Amino acid sequence: MNTTQHEHHSWAEPYKIKMVELLRMTTREERLAAIREAGYNTFLTRSRDVYIDLLTDSGTSAMSDRQWAGMMRGDEAYSGSENFYHLESAVREYYGYRHVVPTHQGRGAENLMSKILIREGDYVPGNMYFTTTRLHQEMAGGTFVDVIVDEAHDPQDRFPFKGNVDLDKLDELVREVGADRVPYISLEGNVNMAGGQPFSMANLRLLRGYCDKHGIPIILDATRTVENSWFIREREDGYSSTPLRAILREICDMTDGCTMSAKKDALVNIGGFFACNDGDVFLKAKNLAVVYEGLHTYGGLAGRDMEAMAQGIRESVTEEHMAARIGQVRYLGRKLEAAGVPIVEPIGSHAIFIDARRFLPHIDQEQYPAQSLAAELFIESGIRSMERGNVSAGRDPVTGRNRQPKLELVRLTIPRRVYTQAHMDVVAEAVIDLYRRREEIRGLKMVYEPEYLRFFQARFEPL
Ligand SMILES: Cc1ncc(COP(=O)(O)O)c(C=O)c1O
Repeated sequence: MNTTQHEHHSWAEPYKIKMVELLRMTTREERLAAIREAGYNTFLTRSRDVYIDLLTDSGTSAMSDRQWAGMMRGDEAYSGSENFYHLESAVREYYGYRHVVPTHQGRGAENLMSKILIREGDYVPGNMYFTTTRLHQEMAGGTFVDVIVDEAHDPQDRFPFKGNVDLDKLDELVREVGADRVPYISLEGNVNMAGGQPFSMANLRLLRGYCDKHGIPIILDATRTVENSWFIREREDGYSSTPLRAILREICDMTDGCTMSAKKDALVNIGGFFACNDGDVFLKAKNLAVVYEGLHTYGGLAGRDMEAMAQGIRESVTEEHMAARIGQVRYLGRKLEAAGVPIVEPIGSHAIFIDARRFLPHIDQEQYPAQSLAAELFIESGIRSMERGNVSAGRDPVTGRNRQPKLELVRLTIPRRVYTQAHMDVVAEAVIDLYRRREEIRGLKMVYEPEYLRFFQARFEPL
């Protein structure tokens, strides 16, 4: 697949820069004051205090001139906006589902889906949890059950498809509770919490066969499924010359519907959708949308947002875009690997995940090593990252104890089309400097814990 101009290996960006956003550099003292003010939680820091923002790849992409031009064509009618029909046709063309309900972002779609499909006492298997997805499943009365392959829980295991579903684990659940207590399987593309790790088409095919036998629908979390498609092409036999968009369609065609946070793959600052093939599920989703999102032809979005999303979907499946996306993340990852910094392997698509257990072996997991490392990186350099470990995993609703996940990670998440290679060099230097003085880093104690999704708003103090 030709994704470079001269058949060289470079992943140079397939765009040039027309407008820039100025960054503010800060002193160490300023950053220390800022993180204290924020309770050592990078989510609570102010963006003006951040130099390079790797908090998330969600809604932080740079839109193209075509997307911005589309925003000027926003049809801000309450009902039946032309932009909705553009979005619907882009979803049908690239994702292939018949019915589409726009939502304000991914969790809006998760809310609709969970309320429609889950009954009190159901079990929802998934290839590792995602924070908002699992919470909506639990709030609808379901219990999430992790059925991802064991390799996903080991940051050093280089298995190429760590997002795969372990069919034995799934079968064990189905035998134990009965297929009628399993409303669907939640299948995430490029599993975020595992380090941005893909499932394979072969695994999905087996899963489809199993689910057909037991009458269980597959609902895809399509948030990063174009990125998953890239890895299938790169790593799976038989796909090396299949276009990305054909791989994406093949995945979607084997599933029954999806929830989508368009703030990732689809290159927009806000937006999402729920999509499905079943007419009854669609009717229910349309109806619930008016309760939680807005009329089913805008779902909490302005017309211009839907236009940007329709265009973003088209751009996201281009070969050259994804080559640069993956290339940039790898560039950073390889620099850290070369310096011996422990990161999740293989390098995923949207972020580099630092393994805080190995980075800070002297800090007990109950003292939140990943949270502490993220705070320290901010103090060191003004680079904002986020914790994906004990804090994000939350408490077990039955025992009330910290879940203590095997993965205790700091996520350096790369926004799409935003930073340059020189920024990646700065990030690598900062992390490597911190690694050299890692013994000086101490743990944290949590001093405020909110009820839901605590990682967003919890506060900490140094020990
Ligand atoms: C895999 C995955 N699913 C769902 C969501 C939720 O989407 P949103 O933040 O748009 O509500 C996110 C992002 O936060 C995600 O990474």
